[in-house]
Amino acid sequence: MERLLSVSRAAKLVGISRGTIQKMLQDGELISFEGKLKLSDLSHHFPHIEIEDNSQLEKIDEIIEGALHRARGIKLQKLLSPDLGTLAARVHALSKELASNRAQAAYEADLLQQVAEKLKDLAATAGMATEVTQLSDWLQQNLGMPISASTTDTQLLIRDTMLRLVAAQVHLMPSGHEYLIEGNTSILEAALSAGYGMNYGCSNGECGKCRARLISGEVQLTRNHEYILSETETKQGYILACSNTAVTDIVLQAQEALDDEDIPYQEITTIVKNIKAISENLAIVTLATAKTHRLRFLSGQSALVSANNIPQTSLPIASCPCDDRNIQFHIYRSQKTDISSYLLDELQKGEEVKISGPEGNFLLDSDSLRPILFVAFNTGFAPIKGLVEHALILGNTEKAHLYWLASIPEQHYMKNLCRAWDDAFDDFRFTSLSFNESTSKNINQQLERIQQDYPELEIFEIYIAGSQKEVDIAEAFFSAHGLPETQYRSYPIEGS
Ligand code: FES
Repeated sequence: MERLLSVSRAAKLVGISRGTIQKMLQDGELISFEGKLKLSDLSHHFPHIEIEDNSQLEKIDEIIEGALHRARGIKLQKLLSPDLGTLAARVHALSKELASNRAQAAYEADLLQQVAEKLKDLAATAGMATEVTQLSDWLQQNLGMPISASTTDTQLLIRDTMLRLVAAQVHLMPSGHEYLIEGNTSILEAALSAGYGMNYGCSNGECGKCRARLISGEVQLTRNHEYILSETETKQGYILACSNTAVTDIVLQAQEALDDEDIPYQEITTIVKNIKAISENLAIVTLATAKTHRLRFLSGQSALVSANNIPQTSLPIASCPCDDRNIQFHIYRSQKTDISSYLLDELQKGEEVKISGPEGNFLLDSDSLRPILFVAFNTGFAPIKGLVEHALILGNTEKAHLYWLASIPEQHYMKNLCRAWDDAFDDFRFTSLSFNESTSKNINQQLERIQQDYPELEIFEIYIAGSQKEVDIAEAFFSAHGLPETQYRSYPIEGS
């Protein structure tokens, strides 16, 4: 039987983004069968992929990890391998499938042999003896012919089998989101790293908020948990996503946060993990939450920050929830708040910072397949950065372009990260633009450059962040160029 592949697995196999596959499906170049692709169709469209070894398989992960980790100053981590128990269970499941496929192949070979015999008999009696004999000879010749291991189909099948050994796939219901789990990573952790907001509380097996119902497939405990599932829940197949990993491909009914209203308001204490001063008026501060008290938020949201008993202020979160326990803020000196001066001048590594939230609905439309333009003005880059990281992790979009407009050179303070994204992702572009002063004329001149690059602005989804004035000018510009209001989202940053 033909092997069917999910979009995520197909993308991983041929080393391209999900967005490219989605686009090919949209354009009718590839055909899906209930959301899945035929392996033979894939090999037909990608006949020249290099699949001699496993390195291509890891390429996408390394690129994503590399680009994101470079920015965070974290050492590149090796891909995770499953433990022996998980590996054994996966080998067992594949062996069962192999045995069943072998039995099917033997049955079909036998059937074809019988057809060949019958054709022989028919040749002796039928009116079209020559044609029937030719058909019978052809069948005899081809029966039992060894299949070349070098065809793209076979190579893809081998590669797919290897991928199934190292990574299991999770299909979430009802959203239809899909992601892969490597090593013994928990179902929850892998969902967050893949950019999906699965419900959770403690992430430690204590609260039960990550309860999800296993519809099919096999899971395995990664830690003992204090939370006790009721007998009925256990019978119905409920598991804790934070305390289990997937052994085989699984289908899971789970609650996910899809917009800001799905996330509860939280108050947590964090520790300053890193402070990177860009200038006397700007710093990048990374906070770390406790393992059991992470902040649940969606990319593009903000949080109220307070330290040293100074009244809290709202700041955009500059990281994505996929970044484990790290929460990044870009602090700029503002005349309107006391806390910016404290954070810039006195904050120390290891100090406690309280944050509460999240707030705001400047969110990525993660299910949209439209190309994306990100337009960041100065430190408006902070919330845009979270969205870009989220979009890159999801890999759903066929094209994304970030324009960073800065009025002073130091405001392109993470240019290297943007260039790394541009280098690493075929479907991502970065352009830095400068202007002297935030006047309507200067800003419009820069926005016209975007319009020259993309005269068909109306096909895009546009995300804009900057001061209220900059956002207003950009909104007016895009609207005047035919972009409907539903296709742009804005984040006017207070005091910027
Ligand atoms: S998140 Fe609390 S038990 Fe899983």
